[in-house]
Amino acid sequence: MTALTDAPALASQQEVSAEITAYRRSSAVAQPQLDYPPYRSSVLRHPRNPLLLTDPHELELSGPCFGARDVSALDADLTIGHAGEPIGERIIITGRVTDSRGRPVAGQLVEVWQANAAGRYIHQRDQHPAPLDPNFTGAGRCITDADGTYRFVSIKPGPYPWRNHHNAWRPAHVHFSLFGTQFTERLVTQMYFPGDPLFALDPIFQSITDPAARDRLVATYDHDLTQPEYATGYRFDVVLDGARRTPSDEDTHV
Ligand SMILES: [Fe+2]
Repeated sequence: MTALTDAPALASQQEVSAEITAYRRSSAVAQPQLDYPPYRSSVLRHPRNPLLLTDPHELELSGPCFGARDVSALDADLTIGHAGEPIGERIIITGRVTDSRGRPVAGQLVEVWQANAAGRYIHQRDQHPAPLDPNFTGAGRCITDADGTYRFVSIKPGPYPWRNHHNAWRPAHVHFSLFGTQFTERLVTQMYFPGDPLFALDPIFQSITDPAARDRLVATYDHDLTQPEYATGYRFDVVLDGARRTPSDEDTHV
């Protein structure tokens, strides 16, 4: 019988960073690679056989359908809905959802989820010793307007440790889901904050080996969005298709 104590020791950051560098030399791709060894758990769960083709129409009949009536304007403000104010740096995140020609994707359901300012999720698998915030749940949603614009008010998330390797920390990020025009077009990705010192060390961010594509996941600080005495502003545009498509998560994690 295999005991937990028999588990192999976690790799060091130096070993994982060396793998990231070696992999980057072999290719420059815009989408995360499923078979990407530095992201340990991804290696174990990505599909190894060809995907089965299904009838998209069948999926549409059973998939979720969202409309403006299902989403309240209050759902876009992650700082409200509790007894008090959440701890942390209040931020505004906004951007446009477009297709490859820059045409707005209106009526689009945009969902976000994130850790709190201390880097903690409300999730049973996240038990690291950072505090939960009773005034912050970390999930929101909204519908893009006619111009394809979405807007959230939130708290800047903190970086958090994960057990990919020894002393592994994720750069601060906000998870995004966009459903596209059909359920089968769902795009799941992560938005990062400019200048994060953890970028070079993070196997998930580095699984996109094209630096220009990685940059498209980093929001831009926009002082015109920043509101006096209230919140700092970040802009993050999402392109749903084409060569400049926003890179997506093909895997999920805590
Ligand atoms: Fe996360």
